[in-house]
Amino acid sequence: MSEVVLALDLPSAPEALSLVQQLPQLRWVKVGPILMTREGPELVRTLVDRGLQVFLDLKWHDIPNTVGGAVAAARQLGVGMATVHVLGGRAMLEAAVTAAGGELALVGVTVLTSHDPAGYAATLGRREVQLAPEVKRLAEIALDAGLSGVVCSAREVSVLRLQFGPDPYLVVPGIRRSSDSLGDQVRVATARDAAESGATHLVVGRPVLQAPDPVAALEEFFKEAGCVKS
Ligand code: C5P
Repeated sequence: MSEVVLALDLPSAPEALSLVQQLPQLRWVKVGPILMTREGPELVRTLVDRGLQVFLDLKWHDIPNTVGGAVAAARQLGVGMATVHVLGGRAMLEAAVTAAGGELALVGVTVLTSHDPAGYAATLGRREVQLAPEVKRLAEIALDAGLSGVVCSAREVSVLRLQFGPDPYLVVPGIRRSSDSLGDQVRVATARDAAESGATHLVVGRPVLQAPDPVAALEEFFKEAGCVKS
């Protein structure tokens, strides 16, 4: 069973809280840079107080001391999971793990799901990059440093499961039904495919946020992911 995580990429706390209130089956919400920059930690505290697991997705990538401080702050807020960029390097990842103290799961962003191979290669100044081996390479660094898992696309999940076994969290954004528009996402999959490949957390944003009936849309994702609340 995979957890469905609703990305609360909304412009204000009242909108986020009113949506969450309509979705009693929801266990995980993701707070990212949009809402955090607008509303700050108070909203995270409110969500935690409402019994939700909060995935704080600020994708930290900075010097070890700064990232360690950010993780310590997230720990105090009571979030369940947070992201760091694996490309921040081993020392940064280890500082993050130390600051987490086992009280929140840290997952490392490998290659963003909005990247295609050509765009990623251009960013690195390389002629060609195969994304699956690149994700595997970054996942190895993340897990060696003590992270709980990684963020990757559904396309890489099976390879990572095979390589690293059943334990790591594999958090997969870019979840779409066949009728959904991709937006800026490139490496997408259905909730069913991602769940069957071994993803632990499926991150869904716009297909629910922009749906005419977000409650029904989320229910579809829950069903596909095999985690309908009985
Ligand atoms: O709206 P959509 O379903 O594309 O939302 C995906 C969410 O997952 C966004 O909040 C985005 O920031 C996040 N994310 C991502 N790719 C990653 C890591 C996080 O799309 N590699």
